[in-house]
Amino acid sequence: MFTEVLIGLVVGGIIFLVVLRRKSHVLKTEDGWWGVGPVPDDEQDTTTYPFKVTTSDAELEDLNRRIDQTRPVPSLEDSQFNYGFNSEYLEKVVSYWRNDFDWRRQVDKLNKYPHFKTNIEGIDVHYVHVKPKQIPDGTNAIPLIMVHGWPGSFYEFYGTIPLLTEPSERQSLVFEVVCPSIPGYGYSEAPHKKGFDSVCAARIFHKLMRRLGFQQFYAHGGDWGWLVTTNMAQLEPKTVKALHVNFAPPSKPGLTVTLSLLLGRHFPKLFGFTSVDLERLYPCLEKLFLESIKETGYMHIQATKPDTAGRALNDSPVGLAAYILEKFSTWTSQDFRNLVDGGLTRKFSLDDLLTNVMIYWTTGCIIPSMRFYKENFSRLDSPHVKIPVSVPTGFACFPNELMHTPKLWVQQKFHNLLTYTHMTRGGHFAAMEEPQLMVEDINNFIKKVEKMKAQ
Ligand SMILES: *[C@@H]1O[C@H](CO)[C@@H](O)[C@H](O)[C@H]1NC(C)=O
Repeated sequence: MFTEVLIGLVVGGIIFLVVLRRKSHVLKTEDGWWGVGPVPDDEQDTTTYPFKVTTSDAELEDLNRRIDQTRPVPSLEDSQFNYGFNSEYLEKVVSYWRNDFDWRRQVDKLNKYPHFKTNIEGIDVHYVHVKPKQIPDGTNAIPLIMVHGWPGSFYEFYGTIPLLTEPSERQSLVFEVVCPSIPGYGYSEAPHKKGFDSVCAARIFHKLMRRLGFQQFYAHGGDWGWLVTTNMAQLEPKTVKALHVNFAPPSKPGLTVTLSLLLGRHFPKLFGFTSVDLERLYPCLEKLFLESIKETGYMHIQATKPDTAGRALNDSPVGLAAYILEKFSTWTSQDFRNLVDGGLTRKFSLDDLLTNVMIYWTTGCIIPSMRFYKENFSRLDSPHVKIPVSVPTGFACFPNELMHTPKLWVQQKFHNLLTYTHMTRGGHFAAMEEPQLMVEDINNFIKKVEKMKAQ
């Protein structure tokens, strides 16, 4: 009798510990309310309804008037993009915007895919939802949520959508894609209260996916989209079948990351560093440090006083374009800082770049988009920072990403890292810059996951 009780206790204890351990890896959250004023008593409207991007003569006249009133500033000789957006090139971009860019045509392009809105936690959440026209016999479309970052938008994914939903290659998977706008970005309403961070966005997107009838789905993200989808995986590891990201800076400089950075140059094997890792991590540490200071001023402003600088950007389309497009230059390739035109049109068209700017301009969302940084940095101790990610993860390592992340570092956070791909080309806005490569990697990764799940 005694031994049986003992065995029972031990087994119970082990089960308890296992459950506890597992539990501690699931992120907890509570419903929020981001609408104006207190939570209303009446039941919430959970309908989803179609939305179309529109414009008007008044909107365009107002824009043109403001563009015409811009006050050009000569840039310094030989400064290229090193002092920020080159002023002389800005005149060219602005002249294109004013005279050749056709917003009405771009609005039609935006409306090429079906848009919707639905109210969640008191704010209207916008999303693009594309179902495949054809699904091969005996297969199902694979649901995939794709989350953008700053200063981007859902539009970053427009090049990938056809490749995902109507692939021309027969061996490609066929996806059903949902691209939401983070609340405060583009056509999603901005939260009216303080505290809306990546975990809140993750919770809202789970509610969105549930509302759309998905019990399980895949997730992809870069920039803030990386953190939002990571939080989604932490909140509901059973709902997120697997996670694909192209950005994953270490969330805290833990012991392993610090040690590997200090010693990895001399003992690369110890940390699994490859020659690519060495090349990208060690131009020299001072340079790495200096670069990060040079390139993160925007972050400091946005994480502290977004409403001040943001107000100027919200009044000036030219200022807004300079602020946003400077990032599309430098974050695509740091070397582009040494080009007078910031290399902008080497990888993107001015039409696409200005469309993204127009999404910020017409919705007046620059301040709320900047506030996301403030909410992020106001809570350094958020539990999600400490919790690892258990769902299968794929990492696409693009050569010109802001910060190179060796496999070991990604594994510190993503305990089930299934694929880590060195991509041949591309920078921070990889989905927009290299849609084909991105979709290829998503395909390879998800095929691997599905194969594993089938076994
Ligand atoms: C804030 O953002 C950084 C990335 O910029 C991320 O590593 C960190 O985990 C975030 N912190 C919180 C509390 O969300």
